[in-house]
Amino acid sequence: MDITFLLNGESVELRDVDPTTTLLDWLREDRGLTGTKEGCNEGDCGACTVMVSGADGAKALNACILFLPQLHGRAVRTVEGLQGPRREMHPVQQAMVDHHGSQCGFCTPGFVMSMAVAHLNGETAHDDALAGNLCRCTGYAPIVRAAQAAANSPVPDWLKRDLDFPGQHADPSAGQGPHHAPETADELAELYARHPEATLVAGATDVGLWVTKQLRDLPEVIFLNRCRDLQRIEDTEQGLRIGAGVSIETLRSRMGDHPSYREMLRRYGSTQVRNAATIGGNIANGSPIGDNPPVLIALGATLHLRYRETRREMPIEAFFLDYGKQDRHPGEFVEAVTIPHQPDRLKVYKLSKRFDQDISAVCGAFNLTIEDGMVSAARIAFGGMAGIPKRATHVENALIGRRWEEPALEAAWDAWAQDFQPMSDMRASAAYRLTAARNMLTRYLLEDLGGSTSVLEVTP
Ligand SMILES: Cc1cc2nc3c(=O)[nH]c(=O)nc-3n(C[C@H](O)[C@H](O)[C@H](O)COP(=O)(O)OP(=O)(O)OC[C@H]3O[C@@H](n4cnc5c(N)ncnc54)[C@H](O)[C@@H]3O)c2cc1C
Ligand code: FES
Ligand code: FES
Repeated sequence: MDITFLLNGESVELRDVDPTTTLLDWLREDRGLTGTKEGCNEGDCGACTVMVSGADGAKALNACILFLPQLHGRAVRTVEGLQGPRREMHPVQQAMVDHHGSQCGFCTPGFVMSMAVAHLNGETAHDDALAGNLCRCTGYAPIVRAAQAAANSPVPDWLKRDLDFPGQHADPSAGQGPHHAPETADELAELYARHPEATLVAGATDVGLWVTKQLRDLPEVIFLNRCRDLQRIEDTEQGLRIGAGVSIETLRSRMGDHPSYREMLRRYGSTQVRNAATIGGNIANGSPIGDNPPVLIALGATLHLRYRETRREMPIEAFFLDYGKQDRHPGEFVEAVTIPHQPDRLKVYKLSKRFDQDISAVCGAFNLTIEDGMVSAARIAFGGMAGIPKRATHVENALIGRRWEEPALEAAWDAWAQDFQPMSDMRASAAYRLTAARNMLTRYLLEDLGGSTSVLEVTP
């Protein structure tokens, strides 16, 4: 596969690249650019953060789970390219010096790259922007102070040029060779039907780990990131139709109608992970602890699958058949998901050991309709409670027709164990999970009755 991209302002053309070479390995081993660090090699620590720019703006991404073909036509900036042509420091670098934001320095290149992207984008929610960067020695306060101090400095001209890289529209290699990069959903449909054994790669936040941690060979790969038509969000008569290639970060920015969903997505991975991961990948992988599926089930979403020109639709809960088994035929892919328009009654509770950047132990989504004080409809779904993202139908049935008051919780008590027999693992015991799920319904009721709960605050 041949690819072209801009690296620190200079054009790079690579021929016959192994499509599962990560940017991190290539930078360090082929280019000797060792400023980008390898910490975890699985997207968790941010030591390898780089800036990647294209038509959709500049984003912080983890180089350790980013394959070279995903960069075709884009501009990459590493810490070596952050300073100006006369070696002047970027404002965030200067602020890190001024505010003592570095001790051993291992994490520092990753931090300054995340800070530089946030600075360029005018992002001032520094805790969120930096939640994917781990530091073992400095402590976060001086780093956040540095980010705050740099916020009002102008964006250096040399970085703005990345956004105009003309190569972002060029495409010398789409659809050629054993590794493919289709440009449209139509091209993808044809290619995948002809190569159903190929691995689809969307954001690579799962697939990247198959390579870096499981050391798997992927003989045939189809990259989805150039299919711009899969990255659309459209307001249709049926609801909000979200293309499979929409990133979690973009989804978050469009979830104004469901603030609780948006708040949960703030805690999905980190900025770097959300910039890469797609809604299609989060559904298609069928993970029992994926955070979007329970929410989509609770919202009554419809899944759109496609094989060549044949399209199927189903309620999203019907897609998850069993652990590791989804209702998807060879050569068929997730094209979109539609969330029906509805009044916002949704609450999503993500329970994880760490507040930021952690996989859920339990993720509960509640969507109850109350009419004249009675529960008239209920959609409740969970991740982390079964081998698949699963609807709590017994609990729903126990609630429907009851007054929306505390006795309804008691009426549903036994139904929880009918719906879920969770497992014990390193994240939580079965008993803890069941108790937590029951408590989440109590929280939903209390919040509905005007109580406020915040896991960010401890009150006596
Ligand atoms: C550090 C880290 C933190 C994470 N935190 C969270 C978290 O908080 N919550 C959470 O839910 N997940 C989390 N994840 C998991 C991961 O981000 C998600 O599962 C993600 O949504 C996968 O999307 P992707 O685009 O990266 O998929 P990829 O890795 O590209 O693909 C995943 C799977 O889906 C298939 N696929 C992709 N797109 C399609 C399509 N359109 N049609 C059919 N098949 C397709 C691929 O072939 C592959 O089997 C985390 C991962 C990492 C590395
Ligand atoms: S090395 Fe830890 S996120 Fe990449
Ligand atoms: S300065 Fe040592 S890990 Fe952050």
